[in-house]
Amino acid sequence: MPTFNLKINNKSFAVEADSDMPLLWVLRDKINLVGTKFGCGIGQCGACTVHVDGNATRSCLLQVSQAEGMNITTIEGLSEHGDHPVQQAWKVVDVPQCGYCQAGQIMTASAFLKTNASPSDSEIRDAMHGNICRCAAYNSIQEAVKLASK
Ligand code: FES
Repeated sequence: MPTFNLKINNKSFAVEADSDMPLLWVLRDKINLVGTKFGCGIGQCGACTVHVDGNATRSCLLQVSQAEGMNITTIEGLSEHGDHPVQQAWKVVDVPQCGYCQAGQIMTASAFLKTNASPSDSEIRDAMHGNICRCAAYNSIQEAVKLASK
């Protein structure tokens, strides 16, 4: 089995894996970064979103062989103490219900706000629409993203 050198949350990892193993599986099963969630496994729900070179990326669709040499950030590495502005806004608005989708939501929102620091409501909706929340907490999510942008 080949070894892949990955840079995750500013640390280096040498991981043995089949080259087509999705990054999501590597994160959860080989590195024990279980904050990134499995939802659908086919790029449809957003639960597995991480940052790859700063861009929100579905880790279920990225093979480990494609991730070598890239800067990968998971929810565990977004901030040192859970105090990224999006995480703070999440707490203020009290977004989580079941909480399952929130890591993916927060990773999508934080990447989006780097590209648009002062988004309109419709821009937030557009940016977040691919992240499914089975509790339908969409209004709270939108409010938190707006708050984080202020
Ligand atoms: Fe990757 Fe659903 S688990 S998009």
